Amino acid sequence: MGQRSGKTVRPFAVASLTALMLGASGAASGHEGASGIVLERMEAMTVMAKSVKTIKAALGNDAGAVRQAAQAIEQRAGVHMTALFPEGEHDGMSEAKPVIWTEWPEFTASAVALADAARSLAAEQTPAAFKALVSACGGCHAKFRAE
Ligand code: HEC
Repeated sequence: MGQRSGKTVRPFAVASLTALMLGASGAASGHEGASGIVLERMEAMTVMAKSVKTIKAALGNDAGAVRQAAQAIEQRAGVHMTALFPEGEHDGMSEAKPVIWTEWPEFTASAVALADAARSLAAEQTPAAFKALVSACGGCHAKFRAE
């Protein structure tokens, strides 16, 4: 990913540091022991989960915050997300199911559906659009992420 801009790398670096600190203090962290691209995608997912929380709190009272957080999700969805899943990359820490790579078109479609849902939410700002976004996360997890 040589073309990844400093803009996208930086939040990952900050999240890394946080994960390290959590690990060092003995707190449970799903990231502990993960490295490389597996760690990178876990952190991207974690950042998206924070954006979902931001949206939940801001929906109906801060359109700017909803738009910004929805756009942050859109920027991590689609090809940005699937690029973090090179074939067969699921080390011991990863919850990625091997079915990702045998049903790659469906996995890709789920990542694109998330981008679409985030774009709609940024524009519409409705509870229904928020629900659709959360379903886009959960729909992919149900099939492609191990419990
Ligand atoms: C295209 C499929 C897909 C979509 C869409 C998706 N995820 Fe994930 N997510 C995964 C997979 C696969 C993993 C497991 C990655 C691993 O452990 O290697 C994961 C892991 C996670 C994790 C755990 C990260 C960790 O620390 O181990 C969180 C949190 C998460 N996703 C949140 C979200 C949220 C929030 C959304 C929607 C805004 C979302 N995901 C959308 C596939 C998806």
